[in-house]
Amino acid sequence: MKTPKRLEPLVQNGLVDEVLRQLMSGKEAVVYVVRCGDDVRCAKVYKEANQRSFKQNAAYQEGRKVRGSRDARAMEKGSRYGRKMAEEVWQTAEVDALHRLAAAGVRVPQPYNCFEGVLLMELVTDAAGHAAPRLNDVVLSPEVALKFHAMLIKQVVLMLCAGVIHGDLSEYNILVDADGPVIIDLPQAVDAAGNNSAFSMLERDVGNLATYFGQFAPELLNTDYAFEIWSHYEKGELHPDVVLTGRARRSEKKADVRGLMREIDSVKEEELNRRRFQLEED
Ligand SMILES: Nc1ncnc2c1ncn2[C@@H]1O[C@H](COP(=O)(O)OP(=O)(O)OP(=O)(O)O)[C@@H](O)[C@H]1O
Ligand SMILES: [Mg+2]
Repeated sequence: MKTPKRLEPLVQNGLVDEVLRQLMSGKEAVVYVVRCGDDVRCAKVYKEANQRSFKQNAAYQEGRKVRGSRDARAMEKGSRYGRKMAEEVWQTAEVDALHRLAAAGVRVPQPYNCFEGVLLMELVTDAAGHAAPRLNDVVLSPEVALKFHAMLIKQVVLMLCAGVIHGDLSEYNILVDADGPVIIDLPQAVDAAGNNSAFSMLERDVGNLATYFGQFAPELLNTDYAFEIWSHYEKGELHPDVVLTGRARRSEKKADVRGLMREIDSVKEEELNRRRFQLEED
C-alpha cells in the first residue's frame, strides 16, 4: 500500500522497508503490518494527544518518572515545550513498559523501536501465521477459560513483580497466539510503587479477567485475586511463583458481618438484662 504519512520517516530511515496493510484503527492508535527486511512486524502509530481518550488522565500519570525537574515543571505548566515533552513521555511509555515486561518474562510483543511517535514491535500471530485474534473474538471451552485465566493471573503477578500494573487490561487488550494469551496496549501502564490508585487499578484489571472468563467458567466470578496479590506485594513478599488461593474477601467480610451481628446481639442482651435488673430493683 501507499506509505501513510506518519510512517514515511521510518521508511526514509530504513527502519521499515514496506507498509503491507492497515490492521486496525483503535481509539488511541492506528496499527499497520509492515515489512522490515525479511520480518513482518507491527507498527503502532499513536494519535495526537487531542484525539486520545481517558488513558492520559492524571490517575495514570502519577508516579511516572520524568527526565528532569525542568521537564516536569514545563509539563505541569502545559507550555508548548511542556506539551511536547508530555507527548514524548506518553509515546515512549509503551516501549519502556514492553522492554521491562519482556525482560521480566511477561508474554508481550517483543518491542524493537519507538521513532517519531511510532512503535515497532513483533506482530503477534496465530498458528496459521495471521495476525492473532483478540481474546474477545474467540469462544472458549470452560477448561480453556480456566487455563487462560490462570495464565493471565500469573502474568499479572509477573508484571507487578516488575513494578507495573497494566491499567487497562481486558479482553480487548489481550491477543491469543498459538501458545495462549499475549498482553498488549500498555501506554497507560501504571508504576505500582508511586501511584495512589495502584491497588484500585489492579483490582479493576483482575476483576475484568474474572468477569470475562466467568462467562465460560462461572466459578471464576467468585474469585478475588487482586487483594491477595496486593497483600503479598505490600509486604514485599510477591514473587513469580507465589501460591494464590483466589479466595474471595467477601467470605471474610461475611464472617465479619456475622461477628458484628453477634456483638450487637450481646450488647442488646446486656441492655435487656440491665433493664430487667433495674425493674426488679424498682
Ligand atoms: N503486536 C501486535 N500484534 C498483532 N496485533 C496487534 C498488535 N498490537 C496491536 N494489534 C492489533 O491492533 C489493535 C489495536 O491495538 P492497541 O490496543 O494497542 O491500540 P489502541 O488504539 O489502544 O486500541 P483500543 O483503543 O481499541 O484499545 C489490537 O486490538 C490488535 O488487534
Ligand atoms: Mg487497545
